[in-house]
Amino acid sequence: MAQRIDGKRISAELREQVRREVALLGGQGISVCLAVMIVGEDPASKIYVRNKKKACEELGIQSQEYALPAETSQEALLDLVEQLNQDPAVNGILVQLPLPAHIDEKSVLEAISPKKDVDAFHPINVGRIMIGSYDFLPCTPAGCMELIHSTGTEVSGKRCVVVGRSNIVGKPMAMLLLHESGTVTVCHSRTENLAEICRSADILVAAAGKAGLITGDMIKPGAVVIDVGMNRDGEGGLCGDVDAASAEPVAGWLTPVPGGVGPMTITMLMRNTVTAARLQWRQTARALPSSTRQGD
Ligand code: GUN
Repeated sequence: MAQRIDGKRISAELREQVRREVALLGGQGISVCLAVMIVGEDPASKIYVRNKKKACEELGIQSQEYALPAETSQEALLDLVEQLNQDPAVNGILVQLPLPAHIDEKSVLEAISPKKDVDAFHPINVGRIMIGSYDFLPCTPAGCMELIHSTGTEVSGKRCVVVGRSNIVGKPMAMLLLHESGTVTVCHSRTENLAEICRSADILVAAAGKAGLITGDMIKPGAVVIDVGMNRDGEGGLCGDVDAASAEPVAGWLTPVPGGVGPMTITMLMRNTVTAARLQWRQTARALPSSTRQGD
């Protein structure tokens, strides 16, 4: 029977570390601030934004919320992004996705200063992840890596299979596993022999957004299985991409949905926001003449 990877507990432990770092920075006179923008009334996005604000409050991070009407123009949104880019009091900027259809998501994400891009969605940060030289890790894949590490599993030399090739999860997840010397295969909707490839995985990450796609017969006995799926079942409940009932008797480790990857994502966002504050403070300190510089 699979051991449960308790994302809630691991997330709480990591949040405590972040809270201590925020307090330490506060002691040096450095505050940490995240600005979140949401355009329109998407109910799921509103819940995500509320949870981000709540996490900031719990950890001593200041937050600014910009709830803009659905008809906000792209120009107005870009102006706000630029204003926040220039504001030294704002360390991290996040534009909640999806955006209304009349706004070009790519233009908005590229307008965010890479130094404040706590989602790590800007092409510069994506490129840095590709070459393994990054300040910010994309939140969901970073959370998955923490969950894998929590099992004590060494990624090096293991067969890793990522199901899903999104820019937000699948592709960066594959990169992070590769950086730790996993042998990585990425599967997607056109993959032939999905079951067979999944069965070869010591570490299986399901991020296809398809309820119950991965069943127990597709899992190698003893494998670490990370379920990124957040799908609605027929009764409005939350379910993952992994069919837990058939996976549990086979997998060695399994994340529950909810309570697995979900709680980790916002925790990683909080960590990135602290990283942004530290990097910006260092840069400001370096720019000062040495006579006015405090301990760097
Ligand atoms: N919408 C769903 N997930 C995310 C996320 O991780 N970041 C942003 N900005 N929007 C999202």
